Order: sequence, then C-alpha cells, then structure tokens
Amino acid sequence: MDSIVVTGGAPLAGQIAIAGAKNAALALMPATLLSDEPLTLTNAPRLSDIKTMTQLLQSLGAEVAVLQEGKVLALSSDALTSTRADYEIVRKMRASNLVLGPLLARTGQAVVSLPGGCAIGARPMDIHISALEALGAEIELKDGYLHAVAPGGLKGARVPLRFASVGATENTLMAATLAKGTTVIENAAREPEIVDLAVCLRKMGARIEGEGTATITIEGVDRLGGATHAVVTDRIELGTYMLAPVIAGGWVECLGGRIDLVLAFAEKLDAAGVAIEETDKGLKVSLKGDRPRAVDVVTEPFPGFPTDLQAQMMAMLATAEGTSVLEERIFENRFMHAPELMRMGAHIEVQGGHATVHGVDRLKGAPVMATDLRASVSLILAGLAAEGDTMVNRVYHLDRGYEHVEDKLGAVGARIERVKAQ
Ligand code: UD1
Repeated sequence: MDSIVVTGGAPLAGQIAIAGAKNAALALMPATLLSDEPLTLTNAPRLSDIKTMTQLLQSLGAEVAVLQEGKVLALSSDALTSTRADYEIVRKMRASNLVLGPLLARTGQAVVSLPGGCAIGARPMDIHISALEALGAEIELKDGYLHAVAPGGLKGARVPLRFASVGATENTLMAATLAKGTTVIENAAREPEIVDLAVCLRKMGARIEGEGTATITIEGVDRLGGATHAVVTDRIELGTYMLAPVIAGGWVECLGGRIDLVLAFAEKLDAAGVAIEETDKGLKVSLKGDRPRAVDVVTEPFPGFPTDLQAQMMAMLATAEGTSVLEERIFENRFMHAPELMRMGAHIEVQGGHATVHGVDRLKGAPVMATDLRASVSLILAGLAAEGDTMVNRVYHLDRGYEHVEDKLGAVGARIERVKAQ
C-alpha cells in the first residue's frame, strides 16, 4: 500500500483547483438508474470511490463511459440486467446504498447488501428503510441483504425522517421522483450535495421543490429523461485546502471555492484569525498572525460545521494558541485521528464525543496511520508544519476522496511525495 511523506516547514503560495464533490457525484451517478436516457456528468472528481460506484452501476447493467481523463462520466441505464447490489462492492463503500431508491422506483425491486460496520461508527440503514416503506415498499432483511419490493409501484406519502440523514434524503428523493402522487420529505437533510441532486433530477424532468430546506416536496412523474449536469464544487476538499496555509503558513487561492458552501466553517476560521478573501476565481486564504487562535467546534448537519472537516480542523487546532473543544455529534467514533496526532506531539484528550485540544507550539514528524478518509488528510495537513518527516501509511483511504493530493499540495510549495508500495 502506498504511503505519503510530508516534510514540514515549507510555507505555501499558489492556487489549488477544487474538484467536483465526491459526495454529490456518488448520489448523481445512481440517478442514471431512474431513466432509460443518457445522463452526462461533467466536473466529476477522479477518485477511487467513483470507480467503485462505476463498477456497481456496471454490475447492474448500466453503461458508464469515463471520458476526458475521468472528468466526464457518460451514463446510460437503458438495458438494466440486474437489481442486486452485491456485498463485494457495497462493503467497500457505504454510498453504494444509494442505488436502493432508484432501483426500486424504476423496476419495483432491489436487493442491496447492508454496508456493514464502518470505522467511524455503526451507520445503520433504518432511516432509509422506514422512508422507503412510507412510500409503499416492502423491505425484508435476509442473509445480510435488504430485499425490497414495490409490487404496485411506489406511492407518494408524507415521509418524516427521525434524523436529517444525507443518504436517506437522497434515496427518498430519487425514489419519489417516479412514485405516484406527492411526497413530502420532512426533516430532510439540507446539504449542498442534495441541492445538486435535486437540480439534476429536475433537468431530467422531475418535479421537486424545497431542496436546501428541511421540507422537500416531490410530485411524481411517469418517466424521467436524459440530462447533462456539472457536479457542484467539493466543499470538503475546499475546506481541507483552506486549512493548508493556516497550518503551513503562506497563502492558497482555492479555485472554484464558494463561501456559501462553507459558511459555518469559514466563521470558525475567522474567529481563529484567518483571512478569507473572495476573489473572482475562488477563495484566497492566509493566516493573519503567527499562530491561529483556539476555537470551539460542534459538528452538525448542514448548514452547521461539517463532520467531514472535523479531523482537518483538529490538525489545525493542534498548534493553535489556547485550548479548543471539538464536539462530534454526527458519528460516534470519529476521533481516531487524535491518537495519531498525539504521536506527532499534539496534546489532546478525548472523552466520549468531546475532544479537548491544548495547542502546542509545534508538532514533530512521525510515522502515522490513516484510519479513515478525512483522518488521513488531517495527518497530511499536520505534517505540513511538523518538524521533520511525517509518513502517512495506508493512504488508500485518501485516494477514495482526494484526487492527486500530493500534486495539488506540491504545486503550491509543500514538500510532499508518494512512496509507491513495493
Ligand atoms: C454522508 C456523507 C458523509 C458525511 C455524512 C454526514 C456521502 C456519500 N457521504 O454520509 O461523507 O460524513 O453524510 O454529513 O454523501 N444514520 C442512522 N440510520 C440511517 C442513516 C444514518 O442512524 O438509516 C446515522 C448514521 O449512523 C450517522 C448519521 O445518521 O451517525 C449521519 O448519517 P448520514 O447523514 O446518513 O450520512 P451518510 O449519508 O452515510
């Protein structure tokens, strides 16, 4: 398995192009299953998670052409051959469960493996299941698979979600586009990736209102057509690279960055003493003083502070002036980067869902282990300012969510290289 070695101490200067959002693309790709006409996605990110979704869709009989070095995905589902999402693919990536709603809506049946345990928490599927049941699906768990049928087709209904789950909102939204009658999703997730999905579905002919708010109303239609859609900017990659110059010194202009995608995060950076300038190309970020200041952070569903930026924020706060408290409210086990940061000299106490970070002057390079996607990039960020070399092992997690991280950071002055597995 590849490793990444970062040699700390080089200030950054330059531009980083932010890719299309992984989490938006992973919801947009299964939307192809809703129609027999082509769906073309532009601004797609080049990531291993996208390859996994490609394999999954192909295993169902969809065609996926990867064009322009992966930036364009041409999808077509006019001849589906299967409605079974196999464990071998689903276990690699939880977002595979996003084929459930579209398959059920288009074909009246779906067999989808449960994703299984994930390093950052239990992540059950109960919200997805009860939402689709509200639309008339009958779902049974057998042999680790959800067996779903909708013999008479799905019917629009009021669907209150017990928690604003991103995936459950996406599955329900896609399923409801082809249901008979009106569906109202209450306590819907409001993430920009859901707005992006709704915009694309509307281009395909769906009738949707209220995306981006807690109540989404969908008027079912008989069929959906084709569309071409550009994937929204990845706000998590954006936030990650906004933190790089705060940790390493210097400045970075994140091309394609939009402040409305990262408002809650940007407010915390502002409180920590970070300058964020909106330019005509994106967001330019630098630290105002010598050291960031401590800030407290609570992760929440959008528009709150994203859980997917918590690890990276912790890397920054590890060398901030003062003590910060990070509270994780979305996933129950998402502080696995803390002990790795402590191997680099960070002073962190974790208790339940709280991590108390006492900022130290400087971190020291060390061999560390990437435990999940966002944890791995937080260790790279920490390495940017650490004394000496930080070797981040098991970076396959990183490749799931960040395209060419060593090239992007290397181009703005970071000393970073990938060591290929023998
Ligand atoms: C999505 C994102 C992920 C992000 C997360 C929260 C994608 C592909 N992934 O994941 O990067 O960290 O949103 O912003 O978009 N839950 C249940 N039952 C369910 C569904 C969820 O209890 O049926 C719980 C989960 O265990 C978790 C919380 O709800 O604790 C949030 O999960 P959810 O919003 O569904 O996240 P994902 O869609 O899996």
